[in-house]
Amino acid sequence: MTDRPTAPDPRPPHPAPDATPDLSSRDPDWWRQAVVYQIYPRSFADADGDGLGDLRGITRRLTRLSALGVDALWLSPFYPSELADGGYDVADPRDVDPRLGTLDDFDALVREAHRLGLKVIVDIVPNHTSHQHVWFQEALRAGPGSPARDRYVFRDGRGASGELPPTDWQSVFGGSAWQRVPDGQWYLHLFAAEQPDLNWDHPDVREDFRTTLRFWSDRGVDGFRIDVAHALTKDLEEPLRDLGDHAAGGEAALVDFAPGTHPFYDRDETHEIYRDWRKIFDTYTPPRTAVAEAWVPGARRALYARPDELGQAFNFEYLEAVWDADELRQVITDSLATAQAAGASATWVLSNHDVIRHASRLMLPPGTDTNAWLLSGGKAPAVDPEAGLRRARAATLLMLALPGSAYVYQGEELGLPEVADLPTSVLQDPIWEQTGRVRKGRDGCRVPLPWTTTGPSYGFGANGAWLPQPPSFAAYSVEAQDGVEGSTLELYRTALRLRRKLIDGETLKWAEDTPEGVLQFDRGDGWRCVTNLSAAPVPLPPGEVALTSAPLEDGHLPPDTTAWLTR
Ligand code: GLC
Repeated sequence: MTDRPTAPDPRPPHPAPDATPDLSSRDPDWWRQAVVYQIYPRSFADADGDGLGDLRGITRRLTRLSALGVDALWLSPFYPSELADGGYDVADPRDVDPRLGTLDDFDALVREAHRLGLKVIVDIVPNHTSHQHVWFQEALRAGPGSPARDRYVFRDGRGASGELPPTDWQSVFGGSAWQRVPDGQWYLHLFAAEQPDLNWDHPDVREDFRTTLRFWSDRGVDGFRIDVAHALTKDLEEPLRDLGDHAAGGEAALVDFAPGTHPFYDRDETHEIYRDWRKIFDTYTPPRTAVAEAWVPGARRALYARPDELGQAFNFEYLEAVWDADELRQVITDSLATAQAAGASATWVLSNHDVIRHASRLMLPPGTDTNAWLLSGGKAPAVDPEAGLRRARAATLLMLALPGSAYVYQGEELGLPEVADLPTSVLQDPIWEQTGRVRKGRDGCRVPLPWTTTGPSYGFGANGAWLPQPPSFAAYSVEAQDGVEGSTLELYRTALRLRRKLIDGETLKWAEDTPEGVLQFDRGDGWRCVTNLSAAPVPLPPGEVALTSAPLEDGHLPPDTTAWLTR
């Protein structure tokens, strides 16, 4: 952790780098239909051989990402952190973790990305800091009732000697959301105990995040992904409210509350913060963009995406939809309508660092207890990797044909499956310990990428990797797929190239009277997408076949296959 003043500093101490601006476009709307590639820095590429991915590793591979055809990168946190929650426990939001590099390395990354025409999005984690953050350390020292404690949510406990937590609120990662400190007070942490929640009623907190947004914007960052965007403001009026039956329901319990009335999720006051941030974004050219991670139901989620707020919000309903034509059509239709009503562009996500990779997930029967599946090492039920990959490829071509922007998670372009059989001895996700070793957590989608077919970590770095890669990763590596016709990597490249050419407008028109289990729509002028989710081959609609996710069979579209056609 680096030292920094506890008082908000008005302007960033580091001069902004000079060479940023060759953005291929200064188009203020570049993000509306962008394909954004999510990099989980620890797991992408390790330049210094310490087993942990780093910024120089990313910079060295940027030409590959530009050749893949994505428009932007989103970097998950690379800030100083003890990695209690994979970097989402930020000790200093305006610096780089020394294990991942330096601010100079960051500037070099941004310069190279911009030279290649790639935009850069960074993660902002406003709900909490690391317990190692200078403010939290100060709060611990300063004691109960001090102004320093007021930047977080400290309370006395209940019970005769304050030995019980102040409320029954549960952490998303399991167990009580309150942690006791040696002087007897408790602090709130909606995630790990190492991630104390900030008090967004405090002016220092608000000012410090303004500083952070300017700091990265001045260094040339094009946009921000806002972590847990729906939890910042809380109802902290005394007495704090217990949640009773809803305590353990997490975000799922939101549906039991009138909109905006849950004590810590999706409160109406949160939107003031984003309106304030928008004013900062709009002082830049082009305006900085933002996307909310907000696990709230559709219509409420759209509020975060309004043009005078963040502009976009991740659409997790699409990610959560099962592989079923009717359900997907409904989710797509609703998502487009919701985004449009808010003046936002729609977003589509199949995988990220928090969920089971879609090459495995889409094969799990609806209703599968995914934690039980992970605990079984991916054996109950067993997932045929080939069938999973086939479905993933079909889902990807469908996603990339939808109006709006698509977020692609590193490794999905290789068709990587979830590593479901990680031994519990190597698990790093705090969920494992915090649930008393009941929930296995998210490490299986965070295993470092394979670049080569051989080598100690399949080309990830010169030595090992912080999570073990299975031998099956060799066949998924970039080396194994590069230039190989029909490989998943080549499918993504071709699809992204075509998509750029074919995109026209932000709407789609569904075909009616399609066979059962078939989704078909037209985009703009002459781009048709058809996906067969049924169990039997179906005839292809009229059009010239431009790309398919699997070979056609006698001119028919086989099951679990998507085709793009042009006129
Ligand atoms: C978000 C991140 C997740 C992290 C959590 C707490 O959901 O995506 O990885 O654990 O926030 O910061």
